[in-house]
Parts: sequence; structure tokens; C-alpha cells
Amino acid sequence: MDKKEYTVEELKNKIDRSRLPKHVAIIMDGNGRWASKRFLPRNFGHQEGMERVIEIVGAASNLGIKHLSLYAFSTENWKRPLDEIQGLMKILVQYIRRELDKLHRNNVKINIMGDINKLPELAKNEVERAVKTTCKNTGMILNIGLNYGGRDEIITGIKNILKDVEMGKISIDDIDENTFKSYLYTCDQPDPDLLIRPSGELRLSNFMLYQVAYTEFWFSDILWPDFTEKHLLLSILDYQKRNRRFGGI
Ligand code: FPP
Repeated sequence: MDKKEYTVEELKNKIDRSRLPKHVAIIMDGNGRWASKRFLPRNFGHQEGMERVIEIVGAASNLGIKHLSLYAFSTENWKRPLDEIQGLMKILVQYIRRELDKLHRNNVKINIMGDINKLPELAKNEVERAVKTTCKNTGMILNIGLNYGGRDEIITGIKNILKDVEMGKISIDDIDENTFKSYLYTCDQPDPDLLIRPSGELRLSNFMLYQVAYTEFWFSDILWPDFTEKHLLLSILDYQKRNRRFGGI
């Protein structure tokens, strides 16, 4: 894109609505560095990160994105100091309490990727309430990765598929890419078209490993707490310039 600074409205007008990515996935990274740069404790970065979650969920839903996947807490994040983990769980509860009514009014359906049984009781209960409240909604599906790991998801899927084979629900010959996909947390949703990772890191960090086989990646140095609607629009405009061949020519 040329160097001119566009406004949000101008960027929205530039986007081709007929070629929107159906599914956008985001690795929300850089909260800790955002806080450190300001000599603040890391949880201040996560708190500001939550404000961006609110902004980006609203922007994606208004734009007409059908599936948005956010990586909020990985299976590896349990290695962090206890006060940071507790802070993140508190922010998750706060997010649901503050946003659930609005998400529900906006027809957003919340789907969880990951095993929430390991979450503290209060967080688990609030997450279950959010899923139950929005389960019949037909608008944007908001996938939230909580205690989520791509490898863990694949192994869980394999275990569940083997159980179904053992019980005679399916036969080994029935297993193809589509059957296997239905055993993942994203179930019958399309794969991400666009994966965004802010904060300057150029890696996947165990996010949606099976689903991103043909996903377009968009990396940026912006830290997640500084990631606004404008950056989402810029990433979509870049995506619309890509030539996706899916292995063909
Ligand atoms: C990675 O940044 C971010 C996380 C591990 C947590 C993401 C959580 C939020 C944005 C909070 C709100 C989420 C929801 C769904 C309500 P980092 O801490 O690894 O940053 P660093 O690499 O700069 O240390």
C-alpha cells in the first residue's frame, strides 16, 4: 500500500466486501512488552490487551467477518508466574461480565478452543455461561483459545476418533481430512484465511496447526495493546492482494 495515512473510513471503503476473509485468526502477542516499555507490571499489558479484544471483535463483526479466532491462553502459558496467570483469568472473567450482553445482542456465538476443565472454577463457570448464552446465535463465531495448544488439539482429536472407531460409530476407511476436521475444536468451520501475529515474532506458537495449512500470514511489529481496527483493515487489504493457489497454479 502507498505511504498515505488512511482513515478507518477510507480503509473500509477500499476493502472489497465480496472477498472478505471468512475466517481471521489472531495470535494476540506483545502485552508484556507493551507494559514493560511503560515500567508497568505485565498484567497492565493484558488489561489493555482486553480493550483491543473488545475493539477488534466489534470491528470484525461489523465488517462481516464470519469467524474470528483469538489465542488468549495457551497450554504452555501455565508456565508463567502464578500472579500473571491469576491476572489473566481475572481479565477473562471481567471480559465476559462486561461484554456478554453486547456480544449476545450482536448475535455473536462464542466457541471455546481448549480444555476449560483446567481453568479456575470462576473462570470456567463464566466461560460456560458465555457459551450457553450465545449457543443459538447465528452471527460471527468467536473462537477463543483457552488452555489451547494445536498439538494437544490434534492428539485429542485422534483419541476421540479412535474411541468412535472402537465403538463402531465410524470405520477407519471413513477417516479423511473432513472427518478429522470435525474432531477439532473448530469442527465444521472453514480454515482461517488470514492469520495475524503482531509484536514482531514470526512463529505460530502452537496455534491452529492443522487448520492453517493454506492460511495467509500477516506479521507486524505493533504490540497487541496498540493493535487497532485500522491494523485489522490494513491486514485485510494486504490479504486481498495475495494470490491464493492452494497448491495449484
Ligand atoms: C501474549 O502476550 C498474550 C497472552 C498470553 C494473553 C492474551 C490475553 C489477552 C489479550 C487478554 C484478554 C483476552 C480475552 C479473550 C478477554 P505476552 O504476554 O506473551 O507478551 P510479551 O511477548 O510481550 O511478553
